[in-house]
Amino acid sequence: MPDRIDDDLPPHTIESTLASFARTPLPTHPPRVLVLYGSLREKSFSRYLAEECVRVLTRFGAEVRLFDPRGLPVFDRQSFDLPKVRELRELSDWSEAHVWVSPEQHGAMTAAFKNQIDWLPLNTGAVRPTQGRTLAVLEVSGGSQSFNAVNQMRVLGRWMRMFTIPNQSSVPKAFDEFDQEGRMKPSSYRDRVVDVMEELFRMTLLLRTQVDVLTTRYSEEKERRQLGALKPALGVGPKE
Ligand SMILES: Cc1cc2nc3c(=O)[nH]c(=O)nc-3n(C[C@H](O)[C@H](O)[C@H](O)COP(=O)(O)O)c2cc1C
Repeated sequence: MPDRIDDDLPPHTIESTLASFARTPLPTHPPRVLVLYGSLREKSFSRYLAEECVRVLTRFGAEVRLFDPRGLPVFDRQSFDLPKVRELRELSDWSEAHVWVSPEQHGAMTAAFKNQIDWLPLNTGAVRPTQGRTLAVLEVSGGSQSFNAVNQMRVLGRWMRMFTIPNQSSVPKAFDEFDQEGRMKPSSYRDRVVDVMEELFRMTLLLRTQVDVLTTRYSEEKERRQLGALKPALGVGPKE
């Protein structure tokens, strides 16, 4: 053990930190985006909004996957081999960015939305399926303007160690904002959705190359040195 607590600090300097960032040219492959929404019903405005995000991001050149939450069991900490659970976890591993769209229900994100995140562990061994991904949060609601679900998803994004972008979208009275085909009607709300997708797209292109250096933590490096590995995240340990 060092005598003085500061002797253990990592040797960061401005020069060494700048040198640790990945160099240009930045990789040009299409950013891989996973879109999640939080409703199981057939006519779902959160799904329509999620599909709108898919369309916009695809036009920008992203590779986008929309996960259908129907058939995903309620999180039980054990059914990790079910096809629907595997599909969700593999998509998260594959992704470089997420878009989360939840309805507001009783002033909160829906259970159907939260359940999907509960299936994504913070880490399984060396793999952290969400850490360092960029994240955009959006909500639909039936009432007048509200931000409860997006606020909660921001907390959740922090917990999953994601880079949640500053802009966000909340679509009130969602039943008025989509046409018969489920397309979003032209409005300032739709403009805002494009703003949010544009910011996510840019942030993802910039940050994805730097994830390792941005997410390395002093305390975890210390843990790795002392234990040889990270402690398993809550919920994945065999004896919990
Ligand atoms: C049980 C229940 C609770 C709801 N609570 C709220 C609420 O707190 N605030 C609000 O603005 N809308 C509320 N709504 C309206 C939903 O946000 C709205 O119906 C939304 O379109 C549902 O999402 P979906 O279309 O993707 O299924 C609630 C709806 C239900 C069924």
